[in-house]
Amino acid sequence: MELLKQKIVNEGKALSDTVLKVDRFLNHQIDPQLMQEIGKEFASLFQESGITKILTLESSGIAPSVMTGLQLDVPVIFARKRKSLTLVENLYSANVYSFTKQETSEISISSDFITSEDTVLVIDDFLANGQAALGLIDLVKQAGAKIAGVGIVIEKAFQEGGSLIEEQGIRLESLAKIASLSKGNVTFEEEETI
Ligand code: G4P
Ligand code: NA
Ligand code: NA
Repeated sequence: MELLKQKIVNEGKALSDTVLKVDRFLNHQIDPQLMQEIGKEFASLFQESGITKILTLESSGIAPSVMTGLQLDVPVIFARKRKSLTLVENLYSANVYSFTKQETSEISISSDFITSEDTVLVIDDFLANGQAALGLIDLVKQAGAKIAGVGIVIEKAFQEGGSLIEEQGIRLESLAKIASLSKGNVTFEEEETI
């Protein structure tokens, strides 16, 4: 997605060989126009998939998911990372290990919102080692729902998340695929360094 790549080049910052900072439009300040275009892109990619629900993870997955839900006219559920006062019974939960934080956290959704009748699109802001996406896929499976695919805003294609998802035979659509972040330069897959 050209607009997104331009935004990454113009406003993103490679903090190291592995971490891209995009606080100016995705992870802290949010660009609503860009999120709307991202929503249209995911909606057009998955419009023939019979999606009934979108599942994401708080917090940065919510903005692109809501815009996609608006386009596809389906509800959006975000899995919670912390225990909620009101989300106490009939939960589906999965453990997600973070390589960056070196800790395992439990993500949960209420069983009220995804059922075996649903076809679910999983969306997240970043795909790195894939643990969050695999956790979300696990929740969809616990609900007995069908997985239409995974939509990612920014995939770090040099990490293993993409292959872990595709190994499961699940469709993966990433709007920007980063091949490398070395020396502060963002290189997209199949393109030269910008
Ligand atoms: P890992 O597999 O590389 O160990 O990372 P992990 O999925 O555990 O991700 C930890 C957090 O860091 C996630 O956000 C994830 O989206 C984010 N993340 C991973 N790689 C990058 C990166 O290169 N740049 C940025 N900006 N974020 C990255 P989170 O903690 O769930 O935060 P949020 O959703 O509340 O914003
Ligand atoms: Na994040
Ligand atoms: Na995230």
